Amino acid sequence: MNNFTYYNPTKIIFGENTISRIVREIPSDAVVLMTYGGGSIKKNGTYDQVKKALKNYEILEFGGIEANPQYSTLMKAVELCRDKQVDFLLAVGGGSVIDGTKFIAAAVPFEGDPWDMPAKGAKVEKALPFGAVLTLPATGSEMNAFAVVSRKEIGKKLSFGAPPHTFPQFSVLDPSFTRTLSARQRGNGVTDAFIHVTEQYLTYPQGAAVTDRMAEGILKVLIDEGPEYVRESGDMKAAANIVWAASMALNGLLATGVVTDWATHSIGHELTVLHNIDHARTLAIIWPGMMKVMQEEKRDKLLQFAQRVWDVRAGSEQEQIEEGIRRTEEFFNSLQVPTRLSDYDLGEDTIDKIIENLKDNGFTALGEQKKVTPEKVRSILSHRL
Ligand code: NZQ
Ligand code: ZN
Repeated sequence: MNNFTYYNPTKIIFGENTISRIVREIPSDAVVLMTYGGGSIKKNGTYDQVKKALKNYEILEFGGIEANPQYSTLMKAVELCRDKQVDFLLAVGGGSVIDGTKFIAAAVPFEGDPWDMPAKGAKVEKALPFGAVLTLPATGSEMNAFAVVSRKEIGKKLSFGAPPHTFPQFSVLDPSFTRTLSARQRGNGVTDAFIHVTEQYLTYPQGAAVTDRMAEGILKVLIDEGPEYVRESGDMKAAANIVWAASMALNGLLATGVVTDWATHSIGHELTVLHNIDHARTLAIIWPGMMKVMQEEKRDKLLQFAQRVWDVRAGSEQEQIEEGIRRTEEFFNSLQVPTRLSDYDLGEDTIDKIIENLKDNGFTALGEQKKVTPEKVRSILSHRL
């Protein structure tokens, strides 16, 4: 097991009807900017609940943060914050709104071009404090310090993180806010969380037994509860478990003591840039190809995954590994998440463009062992046609 320092300062306020507690977390004299997306929070009542909870505050609003938040939109909020001397941000929405808010929080006091934060890894020394009200379990952004920002004019989708400054101070996780999610967003969320776990777990054995068992436990919860949650039955037991599983999947705990992969995500971001495919759906396309092509490097953990997560015990080791990969793809499909490039009418020519973009970003040696080269990416994607 590798040495590690683990620190996560985000306070989690979990459960139905807990939103009123945010008043304890935001200074009473703060000028608050509430950020949100395209309007789902107005339709489902979350907006009203937040406004009610903050009725004694001076609140400004910034709506219209799009899925895969755009730099040009976020910079408008940065200007607003600077102009109105905003001193606390409250993100109300899914991963895109929370990520966008992290960018705004870091960009407001940033001296220089804020795009340098994701593009050049520019050092972030401070950020405005912010909290989050999560409406879509998926990314884990509500409990980590990372954000992904897009700039479509130049065809880029890049991440940055500046812990401890870009951790939310608190996040409200009320499972009832998921009631209005479409089956598509539900399936996406379970898939994204699943692949966040495997990005940290499916590498090579590092003797991190606690981390491994936590990862396997979260995967099993996603498998057990995911289908019920996607059926939209309004079952709050399933929703509650999916919400907490998605936060636990990417709050740093599963990276304790281990090296991590993230190649599937890096390639996936290019599929979103080029074809506007939902984040989780890009991952579901790439993941089975990644596991097939990188099988030798990941052999021991793939076998452990098949046995402990999918309870596969029959057949040779090779057969068990293949069965684990097969069942995972079948699981994504059962969540109504397609797993082939052809499901989006994409073919060979997109592979060249993805490789070109990855090279342009300097991503030519991805994965836990830096063995996912452009040739490997071609092979991975060729399996997914
Ligand atoms: O914009 P609104 O109107 O709010 O609608 C959203 C959006 O259209 C809707 N939605 C959210 N909550 C809802 C709801 N609709 C009905 N009822 C609700 N309760 O869902 C749509 C998608 O929302 P979005 O926030 O884009 O989805 P998600 O949470 O999957 O976030 C995706 C973004 O997060 C990044 C992705 O790359 C992508 O940009 N990621 C961030 C990570 C992180 N910070 O750690 C890690 C992830 O791997 C990921 O890369
Ligand atoms: Zn993801």
